[in-house]
This record gives sequence, C-alpha cells and structure tokens, in this order.
Amino acid sequence: MATSPVVPEKRPPEELNRAVIFLGPPGAGKGTQAKQLAAKFLVPHLSTGDMLRENVAQGTPLGAKAKPIMERGELVPDSLVLKMVRERIERPDCWHGFVFDGFPRTVAQAQYLGELLKQHGFRRPLVIHLMVDTALILRRITGRRMCKVGGEIYNLYDRPPKVEGRCDNDGGELVQRPDDREEIVAPRLHAYEKQTEPLVAYYKRLGLLHDVDASKSVDEVKQQIDRALQQARAKH
Ligand code: AP5
Repeated sequence: MATSPVVPEKRPPEELNRAVIFLGPPGAGKGTQAKQLAAKFLVPHLSTGDMLRENVAQGTPLGAKAKPIMERGELVPDSLVLKMVRERIERPDCWHGFVFDGFPRTVAQAQYLGELLKQHGFRRPLVIHLMVDTALILRRITGRRMCKVGGEIYNLYDRPPKVEGRCDNDGGELVQRPDDREEIVAPRLHAYEKQTEPLVAYYKRLGLLHDVDASKSVDEVKQQIDRALQQARAKH
C-alpha cells in the first residue's frame, strides 16, 4: 500500500498543516512511526519505498527501471523519484499536511522539496531524525515481515503476529521484502551513509532537525516524536 488516502472532510481536532520528514537508516523505524503519526492527524503517509514497490508490482515503466536498483540496495535516481513525489503531494488529500517516510534521501531531493513546499505555501517541515546503532538495525531488518494486503509491519523478534505468517488485522500473508535479505543490508547502509546522512547536517543548519533515540520501544519513540512536534509548533 503506497499511500493512505484521506477523506478531506473528516478532520481531526488538531491539524498537522505541515510536512513531516522521517530521516534515518534502513530499519530505524521510519515506516512504523510515520504511519502512526499520519493516522493520528488524518493525513497521507507517503513512503517513496512503498510507492516504488507498488510500481514494481504493477509492472509500470518506472517499476521496471527501479526494480534492479532496489534489489541491489542502491538509491533510485533523483529524476525518477522527484516526479513521482511531486505528482503525489499535489493531490488534494495533502492540503492539510503529509508525512514522508524515506524521502528526501539526497541533498538534491531535499533542495527540490524545499522549493516545492514554498511554491505550495507550506510552512517549513519538521524533520525527525531516528537514531539507532548498526547492531539493532540488522535485527530489525532481518526480522521484519510485512502484510501483503494492508502493509502492516511486524517483527519476528519484537512484534510477532498472533498467528504465524498471518496479519492480525486482516489475515493477509506476511512476507519478507527482497531487499531485507542479510546480503543486501550492507549496500543499503552504505547508500545511507554516503548519500542520505549528509541531510542530518543539512537540516540541522536550517534549524529543522529533531534527534530521536530510536533504540527505545515503539511507544517511547512515539512520545519523543510528540514532544518534537510540540516544540516545532511553539517555534514556527
Ligand atoms: P524504503 O522502503 O524507504 O526502505 P528503508 O529506508 O531502507 O527503510 P526501511 O523500510 O527498511 O525501514 P524503516 O526505517 O521504515 O523501518 P520499519 O518501521 O519498517 O526504501 C527501499 C528502497 O527504495 C531503497 O533502498 C531505494 O532503492 C528505494 N528508495 C526509496 N525511497 C527513495 C528515495 N527517496 N530516493 C531514492 N531511492 C529510494 O521498522 C523495521 C523493523 O523494526 C520492523 O520489523 C518493525 O516492526 C521494527 N521496529 C520499528 N521500530 C521499532 C522499535 N522502536 N522497537 C523495536 N522494533 C521496532
């Protein structure tokens, strides 16, 4: 499930009204937290990884280009990702804000997004930096299973389903992502360190970065994110 569509009339009491960016290495918990935050504010959860996987599954021209790159654990070229993101955030369900998961991932993507947000009259984004050490990353990635139907994320070690191999929500089959195999984790981490980690300094310089200790439990991480959001609201 690439993005969660939202019914525009059904608004929560508190509006998000901004873009929230989840930044962090593979397996840090971006998807887990981004989904919860988007559901709380009834805004779309925009995972570029999910969008690309959906294109692969549907056999689109974009999916055909992205598939071998993703299987090698490398980043898909900016030119392909930027067009896909632009089209998505221009849809009306993004008017009250949205939550990015896995975007931006290069400085060029961040610069493009900055311009796009300005053009569409959004305030500056909140950037949540999920920090977790490499030992935990491997456990989280190799233990992850995803529901084929609704995209719910599980972990064999930390969040197993009630019935083995089946989603608690809809009974859908739980599968492992092809790039979650142990041998693909190293190139993914390398791509993160080389191309994405510079965004930490980039957003810090802009005063938009909030560090979060992502080694804690899902609930504790969520509490840190709530506090970061309150701080950002108080500032701008
Ligand atoms: P993408 O799908 O974005 O993958 P990723 O960034 O590698 O991140 P993951 O989805 O692996 O991890 P996550 O941080 O979301 O962790 P999760 O919440 O699932 O990208 C895949 C590929 O697509 C890329 O390699 C690239 O090729 C391409 N791509 C995507 N976007 C792109 C872009 N913008 N530009 C270019 N290319 C792009 O959690 C992981 C596990 O840990 C789960 O099992 C979960 O249950 C568990 N867990 C989570 N939080 C906790 C916690 N606090 N405690 C215990 N367990 C936890």
